[in-house]
Parts: sequence; structure tokens; C-alpha cells
Amino acid sequence: MKYGNSELRGKFVLGPMAAYTDIAFRLLCRRAGAAMCFTEFANAEAINRGGKNTDALLQTCKEEMPVGIQIFGATPEAMGKSAAAISARVQDGELFASCIDINFGCPAGSVIRAGAGSALLKSPEKMHAIAEACVKHSSLPVTAKIRAGWRNDSAVELAKMLESAGVAGITVHWRTATEGRKRQAGWEMLREVKEAVGIPLIGNGGASTPEKAVRFLNETGCDAVMISSAALGNPHIFTQANDLLEKGKYRETLWGEKRASFLEYASLAQKHGVATPKRLRAQAIEWVTGFNGVKEARKRLNSAKTEEAVTGIISSFTPNQ
Ligand SMILES: Cc1cc2nc3c(=O)[nH]c(=O)nc-3n(C[C@H](O)[C@H](O)[C@H](O)COP(=O)(O)O)c2cc1C
Repeated sequence: MKYGNSELRGKFVLGPMAAYTDIAFRLLCRRAGAAMCFTEFANAEAINRGGKNTDALLQTCKEEMPVGIQIFGATPEAMGKSAAAISARVQDGELFASCIDINFGCPAGSVIRAGAGSALLKSPEKMHAIAEACVKHSSLPVTAKIRAGWRNDSAVELAKMLESAGVAGITVHWRTATEGRKRQAGWEMLREVKEAVGIPLIGNGGASTPEKAVRFLNETGCDAVMISSAALGNPHIFTQANDLLEKGKYRETLWGEKRASFLEYASLAQKHGVATPKRLRAQAIEWVTGFNGVKEARKRLNSAKTEEAVTGIISSFTPNQ
């Protein structure tokens, strides 16, 4: 399956997650078998201002391709302009990307109040104008990530509308914006979306284990499944889901392997200049979650003041029996 400019060699992709899916985490997930990754969303207005912090969010490298750069914003002008700026930087070889992905799904209050993210699901004509502006000004393919709707499920209509605006691929999180994570089941609705559009479809929402990820794929007919929160502290989920799909079985990850992958994350984060004590602490907490002794480890991590202190805690952490 081709997504944006890139051929995907697998069925499971890493979703965008603010404050987590930095370049180091994406590289780790790619090495573990993720077919593609997405950057966390970057504010179009900030990209257009050339803000340093936003620049760091856009940082991508050749080794991690295929990667999608995700942007959000409320107006066709700002979004078109930032799509043009990113395309130019990709053409210059400063950034690498398979596509520019528009965020039409974020339900965070500050994003909705700004009229961006999932707020746009309430105004399909505005979504259309934003998608069209990005397509017009970008030399890269433009993709979009949506939820099934704002309050009611209108995924089929929204997907068709985005396809008509020139979008080259779409990710649909099957829950609506207002129901948050409350709804437990419902990904079957994506089969209708798949049948309604000719562009590649990535399904998202609730692929929290290798079993669920494979079932999601089989029960919806989506071209790929996006795994987001279940990959936090757990890049191995991509190896496991791939193994389950291809060989019918997978093995559990041992703590020693998890420890090694966190240390690899920390080293990649240093190498690419994204390591801060705060970021490493947040990632490390995800790595120990689910293991015996997590409460004490979390307490120690929360008071770790340096990157070395964080890696030291993870190096010496041994789950209680
Ligand atoms: C910490 C966190 C940050 C997120 N940030 C983004 C984001 O920047 N852009 C986006 O499109 N979705 C974002 N999401 C949503 C996820 O990509 C995904 O759509 C959602 O978590 C449902 O998938 P899951 O059940 O596999 O986690 C975020 C989710 C989490 C948990």
C-alpha cells in the first residue's frame, strides 16, 4: 500500500502523539517494525512564524522514512502556507516526509477553542477548504486524520469529501469527538468507509494489543491499522503485531528487552537533540507501567532532575516478582 509518496512494507503504523512521538521514539518504532510513523501535530501559525520550538517538532530524518508530518490550524490560509513551507524544506533536503497530514481529530479544549482539530468536523465546508488549500500549496501528497464525526458518525461523507478535495490518504479514528474514549466497540463502521473511497484508509482507535490490532485489520478491511497509546513505552508491539499477522504467534517482551529499548531511545534522543529530563521522565514512566514495582519507580522518576538520573533509574529497575 502506498501512503503519500511511500510504499508501506507492513500493516501497522505509529500514530501521532503530542510530547511522545519525537524523532527518537519514531526511529525506535520503525526499528521495531512500524510500517510508518507520524510526527506530533504542529501548529500551522507557529510554523509560519518560524518558531524554534515548532521547528523541533518538524525534525525528521531519512532513516525514519516513511514519515508523515502532521499540522493543525483553523484557516485555509495558515494551513496552505505552512504546507508550502514544509514542502519547500523537504525539497531542500532539510526535512524528510512522505506526506503532510492534516489533523481534524484533536479534541483538546485549547485546540477546539481555536477552531482547529476536531472542531472542524462540525464544518465540512471549512474542512474541504483547508484540505484544498494544503493540496494546492504542497508539492507533497496531503493526507488527513479525522474522527468519525463531531457528535454523530459521518465518516463516510467526510472521507468522500476529503477525497474530492484531493487528499491522498485518510486515517479514521472510529469514535466521534464528543464520545472521547468512552465507546468500547465500533471499528466495523470503517468497512463502509473503505468501500466508499478509492484512497488508502488507515483505521485507528483501540488497537491496544497485538490481538486487537490484527482483528481490527481483518474485521475492517482497512489498508493499515494505526497504533497510538499502546505503543507508549512499548515499541515492541509492532514486532508482536507483525509476528501475529505473519506467523500466527508472538512472544512476550522481557523486561531486559524493554530496558534495552528505553536506553536506545535515550541515546537516540541525545543524538537528535530532543533529550530533556522532562521528556525522558515522561517516556520512562510509560516503559515501567504494567510492571511490578512501578509505584516506587514512578516516584523516583518524578524526582529525577537529569537525563542521566532517568537512565540510571531504568538501568537499575528490576520488576518485583
Ligand atoms: C498522549 C497522546 C497525544 C496525542 N497527540 C495526537 C496528535 O498530536 N495528533 C493526532 O492526530 N492525534 C493525537 N493523539 C490521538 C492518537 O493518535 C489516536 O488517534 C488515539 O489515541 C486513538 O488511538 P489508540 O486507541 O491507538 O490510542 C494523541 C493521543 C495521545 C494518547
